[in-house]
Amino acid sequence: MFTPQLIRWSVGLALVGLVVVPTGTKAQQQTTPTVTPRPPAVLSPEALERQKLTQEDHQRLMDLLHMTTIRRGRDGNNRESPFYANYDEAKANPFPKLPDPLVLKNGKPVKKAADWWKLRRPEIVEDFDREIYGRVPKVVPKVKWEFTKATNETAGEVPVINKQLVGHVDNSAYPQITVDIQLVLTTPADAAGPVPVILEFGGGGFGPGRGGARGPLPAGRDAGRGPAGPTWQQQVLAKGWGYAILNTGSVQADNGAGLTQGIIGLVNKGQPRKLDDWGVLRAWAWGASRALDYLETDKSVDAKRVALEGHSRWGKATIVGMAYDERFAIAFVSSSGEGGAKLHRRDWGETVENVAGTGEYHWMAGNFLKYAGPLNWGDLPVDSHELIALCAPRPIFVSAGATNGDGWVDAKGSFMAAAAAGPVYKLLGKKDMGINEFPPIETPLLDGDIAFRQHSGGHTPGPNWPTFLSFAGRYFKTPPPVAVKR
Ligand code: GCU
Repeated sequence: MFTPQLIRWSVGLALVGLVVVPTGTKAQQQTTPTVTPRPPAVLSPEALERQKLTQEDHQRLMDLLHMTTIRRGRDGNNRESPFYANYDEAKANPFPKLPDPLVLKNGKPVKKAADWWKLRRPEIVEDFDREIYGRVPKVVPKVKWEFTKATNETAGEVPVINKQLVGHVDNSAYPQITVDIQLVLTTPADAAGPVPVILEFGGGGFGPGRGGARGPLPAGRDAGRGPAGPTWQQQVLAKGWGYAILNTGSVQADNGAGLTQGIIGLVNKGQPRKLDDWGVLRAWAWGASRALDYLETDKSVDAKRVALEGHSRWGKATIVGMAYDERFAIAFVSSSGEGGAKLHRRDWGETVENVAGTGEYHWMAGNFLKYAGPLNWGDLPVDSHELIALCAPRPIFVSAGATNGDGWVDAKGSFMAAAAAGPVYKLLGKKDMGINEFPPIETPLLDGDIAFRQHSGGHTPGPNWPTFLSFAGRYFKTPPPVAVKR
């Protein structure tokens, strides 16, 4: 007989595969020898319904792919598990040969920049579209930006103007779904002219302080606030720049059940995705591009100098957004891990199987599931170094915490991808990182147009903000910071 207690445990255990645990926990625990079982989550009826719909949609994709089994993801937090993530460098490169970004599918080498743009880049984009992140539909409804509210505030000690903006997506073709994109823009009130802006993927909405420098943080997130010292927003303002925060949840929900809603559901008129339809990361990146459309119209913003920034799953969205929209001038890709800057072919921390599982598959195209089933990581036609290469020649900063505290995201696998993107930057007349050896913790590589640094602060962008801002400062030459009014 199942007692209520037992039922709760078994429901909880059955759901463990669906729960996405904040990375810090997993990574921290890999250095802890004892294993503390997590109490099973007690889910609300709504959450249970979401899980059911998610599982059904995942199964539907597997059926479309004629997959009867899918390999299980790695365990991040249970050292005793046979599926415990690998943290042994000797075993980390089972597929050491990466696809060459400068060799065409027909085997011919790419020797001229023109051939990169005309021939090779489109091949790589097509592979990422079809197999990894999915395609943005040819026609996506227009977005009409509405300016809802402006307030004068001070962030730290800098007077700022906070603007709340809503991007209404035209839903006349399917009024059952409404998508209103939320964006908060903060610029220095005393700026002499248009300022560079850091556009961050984030959560929240228009709650108190959301766009300000001291806003509350969404659960489990660290928006880069060090134990002492200025917040990232204050550091940005100190350079005389502004920032904007895109609420990704207002574009597309972060789960599989939501794929028939949000912008993806709106375009599909409430129907489920095809195998090469866009996943959530591309939907979020699309939202950032629409936010940039708005920023291009705002006189306080220098839209030629907009940086994209995000951490963890939002770090993945950052690199995708940067790769696909050439208007973004620079990117700060923080702890993006698997599905982001980390090489899919690396066996360290999170793997393809985790992202192809029910808790995360919605980030990707349906086709991505194949690589955790009949196919393997080495069968992927492209890898993350080529995603970084799609950002060329624009500067990009790849950031992660070190293994002790951020092992799940694989700093070294991200470094290797950054290094392997170098030849494309060089072909386009830019500088690579200038090094192929993984540098010691906290050694910034800032001489090239691809930059890298691993910090020792765990799963957070925090310690790397000053490094990113000085890297960006090389490209965003600005007038001196605005005066502080007292
Ligand atoms: C999980 C997931 C990661 C992701 C992270 C986050 O740990 O496995 O891929 O980056 O959540 O976004 O917090």
